[in-house]
Amino acid sequence: MQNLENDENHLINLPRVGPAIAKRLEEAGYSTVEAIAVLSPKELAAACEIGEATAEKIILGAREQLDIGFESGLQVLERRLSIGKISTGSKNLDELLGGGVETLGMTEFAGEFRTGKTQICHQLCVMTQLPEDEGGLNGSVVYIDTEGTFRPERLLQILRGRGLEKNREKFLENILYARAYNSDHQMLICDQLSDKIVKNNVKLIIVDSIMGYFRSEYIGRGTLAERQQKLNKHLHQLLRIADVYNLAVVICNQVMARPDMFFGDPNTPIGGNVLAHASTTRVFLRKSKAERRIARILDSPMLPEGEAVFRITEEGIADG
Ligand code: GTP
Ligand code: MG
Repeated sequence: MQNLENDENHLINLPRVGPAIAKRLEEAGYSTVEAIAVLSPKELAAACEIGEATAEKIILGAREQLDIGFESGLQVLERRLSIGKISTGSKNLDELLGGGVETLGMTEFAGEFRTGKTQICHQLCVMTQLPEDEGGLNGSVVYIDTEGTFRPERLLQILRGRGLEKNREKFLENILYARAYNSDHQMLICDQLSDKIVKNNVKLIIVDSIMGYFRSEYIGRGTLAERQQKLNKHLHQLLRIADVYNLAVVICNQVMARPDMFFGDPNTPIGGNVLAHASTTRVFLRKSKAERRIARILDSPMLPEGEAVFRITEEGIADG
């Protein structure tokens, strides 16, 4: 029999976890230290029927155990200096994002229907391909569409608006489009990305939307743990790809109303803690008058809180 205690990654080595709890964790779908490290004590307590205090100790143990590899601060700085930024087409929005959508991380655009999430994705399809001094990264784009809302015709309008119409075939050819038909398919597409990324110099991966299938396929409390674990795997794969290939990941997300919010906008992005932890920058979009939209940073390690106004015009995303 395999000696589990020698297997560093086995749950049994976490604090407060004996064979019985390890079994319960596994049955709830949390079979790796990574899966546990990103949970909240509430989520873990509910999934395994243990106390929240115990759950918290287990999670802290998992996080400590994963913190094994060190780099020097200088190495981290060097890596961060290689970050590329993609303009959104709106200076206001770029400024809010600290210069644009960044590589080496995941940017989430969340908002109600028609707030401009898909429009921003279309704009980024064009912008990523521009040279660096025009706000791009000279790269191509992977577009994973779960909603069937990708429209090349819309790209033509955006290209026309920027006087790039004569190169339209080149621009459209540099977009690798995949329609995903369920959450497993969505994940499978990501498994097959590596060689395409290198061959095509992909600098942006779009997933529009990240939660659509996860939300509709997993209904009811009993399936939530399984969903969150699968989602966690998907998001971490995307983050790893962003890191390894120095590219940007952009995801669109839906919101839901929180009945417990009495002040401010009660809409909050879906996906729970798992998604909240994975997104490097969360941008919340809301409607304003006519074609105006307001973007607000929800959560970012670097960016100050603030808002930006932009517009969705015939020619694409523009300043407000
Ligand atoms: P859901 O996917 O439904 O959640 O919404 P979304 O946030 O992705 O919205 P989307 O980006 O599709 O924004 C739709 C809005 O963009 C529309 O309500 C229009 O206001 C605007 N829009 C879309 N196409 C055009 C266009 O060709 N010209 C102009 N002027 N506006 C457009
Ligand atoms: Mg959309």
